[in-house]
Amino acid sequence: MTSRPLDEYCGLFGLTRAALGRLGGTVLDCPGGAAGLAAEADRLGCRVVAVDPLYAVPPLRLVDLARAGRETMAEAMRTTPRLYAAPRHVRPEKYLRSWDRARRLFAADRAANPGRYVAAALPRLPFADGFFALTLSSYLLFAYPELFGPDEQLAALLELVRVTDPAGEVRVHPLHDAVGRRCPHLAALRGALGRRGVASEIVTVTSAGRARRVLVLRAASRRHRPAATA
Ligand SMILES: C[S@@+](CC[C@H](N)C(=O)[O-])C[C@H]1O[C@@H](n2cnc3c(N)ncnc32)[C@H](O)[C@@H]1O
Repeated sequence: MTSRPLDEYCGLFGLTRAALGRLGGTVLDCPGGAAGLAAEADRLGCRVVAVDPLYAVPPLRLVDLARAGRETMAEAMRTTPRLYAAPRHVRPEKYLRSWDRARRLFAADRAANPGRYVAAALPRLPFADGFFALTLSSYLLFAYPELFGPDEQLAALLELVRVTDPAGEVRVHPLHDAVGRRCPHLAALRGALGRRGVASEIVTVTSAGRARRVLVLRAASRRHRPAATA
């Protein structure tokens, strides 16, 4: 289980703190893991609801899983720096400390605001159509092809679009698996989404000297709403 802080989420998705503060609607983080996003965004005046099946696990066990996830990341950074690197100009220890801080913020926020953390799993989310202004999904749908094959990816992406306001958008990253292999059927998936009324584009966002590909989805009937980007 991973514990990314809000600034790392901003870098992954091409968001800014200021734009999140201005969003004026609820953000869905699915999967949320043990991220600091909901706790930190609250201080910006932005409400985030995090969803993860592991929220059904007792809180102390969850923190243990998040500690173990931090150690897994530390090991991956040592052994596979090409794929798992700290942001440019940030020492690995400092990056890992940002995960420690995010994990602590997550644990405290979940205890104080349990309603923000919902135990559920894609492809079925317990929310009304169009409830969220912005939906973020990192390190799941394309990162674990053994869990999400093409049909499961399509079902999950459609569900994320369903719960997102047609005036908002869904952002998904990464578009490659754990060894850096790009999703081979992304074009076919985008075609299938298009036939179901979902417009898609791949945008490149750059943060801390790294360019990342983000899949952006919108219901075709969307009205225009400012995104949480710069
Ligand atoms: C690598 S973490 C990513 C968490 C966070 N988004 C991040 O970027 O650090 C993957 C998470 O996906 C959750 N997960 C696994 N299957 C899921 C499903 N079907 N629906 C939603 N979350 C799921 C796991 O419990 C785990 O916490």
